[in-house]
Amino acid sequence: MADFQQRDPGSPAFWDERFERSFTPWDAGGVPQALRDFAAASAPLVTLIPGCGSAYELAFLAGRGWDATAIDFSPAAVARGKRCAGAHAARVVEADFFQWRPDAPLQLIYERAFLCAMPRAMWPQVAARWAQLLAPGALLAGYFFFDDAPKGPPFGIDRARLEGLLQADFVCIADEAVSDSIPVFAGKERWMVWRRL
Ligand SMILES: C[S@@+](CC[C@H](N)C(=O)[O-])C[C@H]1O[C@@H](n2cnc3c(N)ncnc32)[C@H](O)[C@@H]1O
Repeated sequence: MADFQQRDPGSPAFWDERFERSFTPWDAGGVPQALRDFAAASAPLVTLIPGCGSAYELAFLAGRGWDATAIDFSPAAVARGKRCAGAHAARVVEADFFQWRPDAPLQLIYERAFLCAMPRAMWPQVAARWAQLLAPGALLAGYFFFDDAPKGPPFGIDRARLEGLLQADFVCIADEAVSDSIPVFAGKERWMVWRRL
């Protein structure tokens, strides 16, 4: 790991280098259970998966008839995501989360290992963009990583800071332990659903 050239996780080149070298310790290798449970209990939603990486969730949701789009600003991640998405590859798009615009109003943004991929200084921008992309009643749902290690990624958050980021625009409607975490997140992530106010 010490010999990686790219050190700025705010740059696509950082993620390209890691995908190209198959160094992806955040990758769950499939669709996590809480998302499966959430989808089973929900009507299809117009969904965005920002920073999708391998985008396992895209094929899962699209296969259930959901209008889902996965975006990533790393060309290597997009190539990997398209391979994993199979018949739904066209729904994996190279785009920057802060620039991308939806064709139809979003009903759900799915979060996994995206906020924690960002330097902490960028978190207010992420939260503002979530709020901008979601109309009142729409949902932000996924996995939030709680940790205080100064170095990352992943950059963990604490509850007060997460609430500070979201409470002006969202209310938390679900907050649950996660049973199938991969080692890098084990014991430190929770499944949460936030509704846009
Ligand atoms: C830690 S990986 C997580 C990938 C995937 N969500 C997962 O759970 O496996 C973070 C991903 O976010 C992407 N990313 C970071 N900043 C981004 C941005 N501004 N716009 C789009 N993608 C971004 C990276 O390229 C990388 O693929």
